[in-house]
Amino acid sequence: MTDHPLKLHVKTYGCQMNVYDSERMAEAMGPQGYVQTDSPEDADLILLNTCHIREKAAEKVYSELGRLKGLKAKNPDLRIGVAGCVAQAEGAEIMARQPAVDLVVGPQAYHRLPDLVARARSGEKALDTDMPEEDKFEHLPQARTWVGTGAKTVRPTAFLTVQEGCDKFCAFCVVPYTRGAEVSRPAARLMSEARALVDRGVKEITLLGQNVNAYHGDGPEGGTWSLARLIWALDEIEGLERIRFTTSHPNDFTDDLIEAHGTCAKLMPYLHLPVQAGSDRILKAMNRKHTAEQYVALIDRLRAARPDLLLSGDFIVGFPGETEEDFQDTLRLVERVGYGQAYSFKYSARPGTPAAEKEGVPEEVAADRLRRLQELLGQQQRAAQEAMVGRETHVLFEKAGRLPGQLVGKSDYLQAVHVIAPDSLKGQVARVRVTEAKPNSLAAELV
Ligand code: SAH
Ligand code: SF4
Ligand code: F3S
Repeated sequence: MTDHPLKLHVKTYGCQMNVYDSERMAEAMGPQGYVQTDSPEDADLILLNTCHIREKAAEKVYSELGRLKGLKAKNPDLRIGVAGCVAQAEGAEIMARQPAVDLVVGPQAYHRLPDLVARARSGEKALDTDMPEEDKFEHLPQARTWVGTGAKTVRPTAFLTVQEGCDKFCAFCVVPYTRGAEVSRPAARLMSEARALVDRGVKEITLLGQNVNAYHGDGPEGGTWSLARLIWALDEIEGLERIRFTTSHPNDFTDDLIEAHGTCAKLMPYLHLPVQAGSDRILKAMNRKHTAEQYVALIDRLRAARPDLLLSGDFIVGFPGETEEDFQDTLRLVERVGYGQAYSFKYSARPGTPAAEKEGVPEEVAADRLRRLQELLGQQQRAAQEAMVGRETHVLFEKAGRLPGQLVGKSDYLQAVHVIAPDSLKGQVARVRVTEAKPNSLAAELV
């Protein structure tokens, strides 16, 4: 042991579930004497929590490791670890490719991190990419029971992972391999974690899962709870003002969840519901197990329950075999649905997935389709932003804005909003009227 506190720097890539896991890893290292630092130069332990979803995401990790290895010359006690989905997918290969890496830990083994770090500190190369039977979260400290000096202050919004893994096996996707089978956490544990968050000033909880609406956790009194049942239980927590969830799969949207969008006041009118493509032929090749028509019919039902619902989605262009006609189907679906916001990607062949065996479309064709799709999605986003002008909504203020006297937060529809407002409103929800729309943010005044 050294006399100064040990410092941990965590860098997070990929999805929100990695954000949640990074916080849990930092908490797990607290009792080992580690405090968090924002700067890698000060750190005794650097953890990269990585993403394997597309080739670019995975390659980023190696360029970052290339930059970080120089720090070891200055601090021979520095240990570098790779966690997350690249760790799970590539395992020991990471250490072979970048010898500066001392430890590799897969996303289902984080409760063993303190032990792995101890081994790495004694000079061993430590690796654990098991997918053990036990649930890592049951063996990790409860969220935010430990807050070390240097840890980020609690914000009014928090993530809560309720479900992990995926059994869907979309033909392009690595998640079922990197995160393992679908597992739901017990409802009682989630409720106590949610209450603890609210006690610490959290006003908005976003429930997370790779297939969050497939949630089916053990209920406190036997039986299983659906996601809608969990949302209704959270709705009763006094002080909690907003509930969101992400990411959903169209095939797991049950009637009770659709209904909750119309009847649960705390459930926010924003929904991220990926479809990936608008051509039935491509959806079938992707193994999505739904048609474009089924997706649109689901959106119609959701909008009947909650007319002001703002929709977001994910799209992949250039999937193997995608013709111009298939791509036109995607554009037509986007026209029909009307998204307030969306993510779109060029297909990236991932080792080990079924689609990787097939020939992709030429790069320049995929690039052109992505450009055309993003143009349409961009128009829809601008229209949705402009439609907010003159309307009232709520904002949960998260932090100071760039201008003096300004606070920034998110609308009910998850849009960034800038408002001239007293500092006392930080961490609070207030009613505002939108005065101006920009492509990625809104300006509003208090009402
Ligand atoms: N579980 C979520 C999202 C998982 S990954 C769901 O089922 O929708 C997030 C997004 O990354 C996906 O929705 C998809 O649009 C994109 N994606 C996944 N694999 C990809 C690949 N091989 N190439 C390009 N985009 C991919
Ligand atoms: Fe990947 Fe499909 Fe599972 Fe989403 S549902 S995580 S895209 S396999
Ligand atoms: Fe990436 Fe793993 Fe999330 S591959 S998107 S970090 S589940």
